[in-house]
Amino acid sequence: MSVLEYLSLKPYNTFGIDACARYFCRVQTKEDMLHLIADEFQYHHKQLIIGGGSNILLCDDYDGLVIKNEITGIEKIKEDEAFVWLKSYSGTVWHDLVMYAVQHNYGGIENMALIPGTVGAAPMQNIGAYGVELKDVFVELEAIDLQTGEQHIFDKAACDFGYRHSVFKTTHKGQYFIYSVTLRLSRHLQPNVAYGDIRKTLAEWHILSPSIKEVADAVMHIRRSKLPDPAELGNAGSFFKNPEVSDALAADLLAQYPDMPHYPLPDNRVKIPAGWLIEQCGWKGKRVGHTGNHAQQALVIVNYGDASGPEIWQHAQEVQASVQKKFGILLDAEVNIVR
Ligand code: EPU
Repeated sequence: MSVLEYLSLKPYNTFGIDACARYFCRVQTKEDMLHLIADEFQYHHKQLIIGGGSNILLCDDYDGLVIKNEITGIEKIKEDEAFVWLKSYSGTVWHDLVMYAVQHNYGGIENMALIPGTVGAAPMQNIGAYGVELKDVFVELEAIDLQTGEQHIFDKAACDFGYRHSVFKTTHKGQYFIYSVTLRLSRHLQPNVAYGDIRKTLAEWHILSPSIKEVADAVMHIRRSKLPDPAELGNAGSFFKNPEVSDALAADLLAQYPDMPHYPLPDNRVKIPAGWLIEQCGWKGKRVGHTGNHAQQALVIVNYGDASGPEIWQHAQEVQASVQKKFGILLDAEVNIVR
């Protein structure tokens, strides 16, 4: 395992930001990672672990060690009549795991087809799409303490999953390397097609009782039609989280904007799509310099080619300020800002 110096991170982040890593190395086994912790970390004052680089905005050159996780593989570790348990190593591309499950007709993650990134990043923010979240199928993960090299198991409760949330974003931020993730998938699943876009697509295809593969195909079709492909236009998916507001504020806003999409939550709070708020502020499809908001999904901020991290961050802050001014709602970034 060699440590490279002054490497451009452009190929390693889906925003396509040309920031430079002072030091860079790839890990391909657990032993590589343990070796780094024991022998290499003492020479570096900070580390950044990247998987698919699909949820980061690099706002500066990285003056530390960047570790590219290339520990891959999928294993069936247990099964019974109803379920299979798949253990997947953290550098595996998430969509490859979804395609593996779909090919074997294992249900539970087909709605999360085409989410960019790796398996190790999935629990960090409890990824989700079209009515399904990672936590619905999650069993446990193996993590390595980046200070001591000790190995720990986190079950579902220990991860404290919430909407785009886990302990790895808060109390344990930067503390662990996620090594593997185990999911329990179903052999006899009724696919979840409650989400409007999926129902609409399947109806257009005249599919009444869809297979797991047909649901995955519908999801891929929807995502490809709405979300820009990072290979063509740099982006990191939704830039902000969908805000959750009090029912009083939601009622005030609904009196002014009766068409506002909104989703009541169990605890007297209401989720409002950030994409709608941003569109109302006039940003949808608007280009500013080398950046702007996507024409099909205002929540996605894109890099038209030569944007720098600070330029995108500046734009995001302007979007945030305008939403706060118009609606009194402070949007929270979903993308991790790295300095
Ligand atoms: N909307 C607008 N204008 C826009 C975008 C959206 O009015 O420019 C409205 C839509 O009409 C719809 C609502 O907002 O009524 C929701 O839009 P959409 O179905 O596109 O989903 P979203 O809430 O914007 C979330 C996730 C996505 C995930 C989709 C589908 C977050 C932050 N984002 O987006 O996840 O793919 O649902 O489940 O929760 C990601 O995390 O990077 C991501 C892409």
